[in-house]
Amino acid sequence: MAKPRIAVIGAGLMGHGIAQVFALAGHDVTIYDASEVSLDSAKSRIRVNLKDLGDDEGAANRVTPIGDLGAAVRDADYVVEAVLEDLPLKQKLFAEIEGYVRPDTVLASNTSVIPITDIMGGLKHRERALGTHWWNPPFLVPLVEVIETEWTTPETVAFAMKLHADAGKQPAHVKKDVPGFIGNRLQHALWREAISLVENGICDAETVDNVIKASFGRRIAVLGPLANADQVGTDLTLAIHKIVLPAIDSRPGPSPYLEKLVADGKLGFKSGEGFRTWTPEQQTELRAKVLKHLKKAREEDVKQ
Ligand SMILES: NC(=O)c1ccc[n+]([C@@H]2O[C@H](COP(=O)([O-])OP(=O)(O)OC[C@H]3O[C@@H](n4cnc5c(N)ncnc54)[C@H](O)[C@@H]3O)[C@@H](O)[C@H]2O)c1
Repeated sequence: MAKPRIAVIGAGLMGHGIAQVFALAGHDVTIYDASEVSLDSAKSRIRVNLKDLGDDEGAANRVTPIGDLGAAVRDADYVVEAVLEDLPLKQKLFAEIEGYVRPDTVLASNTSVIPITDIMGGLKHRERALGTHWWNPPFLVPLVEVIETEWTTPETVAFAMKLHADAGKQPAHVKKDVPGFIGNRLQHALWREAISLVENGICDAETVDNVIKASFGRRIAVLGPLANADQVGTDLTLAIHKIVLPAIDSRPGPSPYLEKLVADGKLGFKSGEGFRTWTPEQQTELRAKVLKHLKKAREEDVKQ
C-alpha cells in the first residue's frame, strides 16, 4: 500500500523537522507556511540537517514547499499543523483546511499546551482530529505524544500511532486531552520543585541542575520513575512519599520567584540572565552539548 501523503502546515523550527522525518521515512510531503522566507528555506534547512546526521540527503526531494494552503493539503491523507502557538490562528487554519480535504483525512496539531479539544472542537468532522506532540528537535527526540479528544475515533488514534511508529518515532497514546499531556506535566512538576529549592535558599540554580545531571538524570533515560519505584519496592516508595511529599512545593500556580524574574526582564538566554547568567559563548556551548548528546543517543538507538 502507498505511504500516506503528508501535509505539514508551518515550516518553522518544528514544521521543517517533522517534514524531514516523514520524507526520510519515504512519504511524499507538502509543506506550507504563510511566510515566504520560512517556506523558501525549508528544503535547504532539511538538506543541511540530513547531511549533518548522515541521513539520505535525497529525502529532501520528497518535500514540496507550496505557498497556497488549499494546494498544499488537497491530496493529503494526513495534515499536521505546527504554526505559532496561537489558538484563534490554529482554529482558523483547521476550519479552512477542512474545506479542502476529504472527510477522512486525519488532522493533527503539534501544539505544546493548548487543549486539542479547543483547537478541533469547531470542526465538522472532529472524529478524525487529534494532537501529535513532537519534541525538539523532531529528528532527534524519539517521542510523539498522540492525544485523543472525546470525539477522536479509535481508528484515527491507531492510524496516527502506526504512522509515527513506521516513521521511526516512539508514539505514546494520551487517552485524555489534559493540559501538558504526559511529558510536559512530568517535566514541569520537576521544574516547579527545582525553582522552589532555589527560592527557598536550599541551593543555587547551578547546583539544582548539577544534582539532577549527576544523579537520577544519569539513569532516567533507561530507568523511568515507575520502573525505579518497582525496583526499590513500592513499600519503600510509600515510606519516602510519607516524609517527602508534604515538604515539596504543591502551589497550584507559577512561583513568585519565576514571576519576578520575568518582571525584571531576566528572560534567560534571550537577555543573558535568568536563573543563571549566560554569555553568548556559554549559550553556544550548551546548545552544542545538548545536540551532541541527542545525536549520540540516536546512534545508540540505531545500533540496538
Ligand atoms: N519549539 C519547540 O520546542 C516545540 C516543541 C513542541 C511543540 N511546539 C509547538 O509547535 C508549534 C510550532 O512551533 P515552532 O517552535 O516550530 O515555531 P516557529 O516560530 O519556529 O514556527 C512557526 C511557523 O508558523 C508560521 N506561521 C505563522 N502564521 C502562519 C499562518 N497563518 N499560516 C501558516 N504558517 C504560519 C511562521 O511563519 C513560522 O514559520 C507551536 O504550536 C509550538 O507550541 C514547539
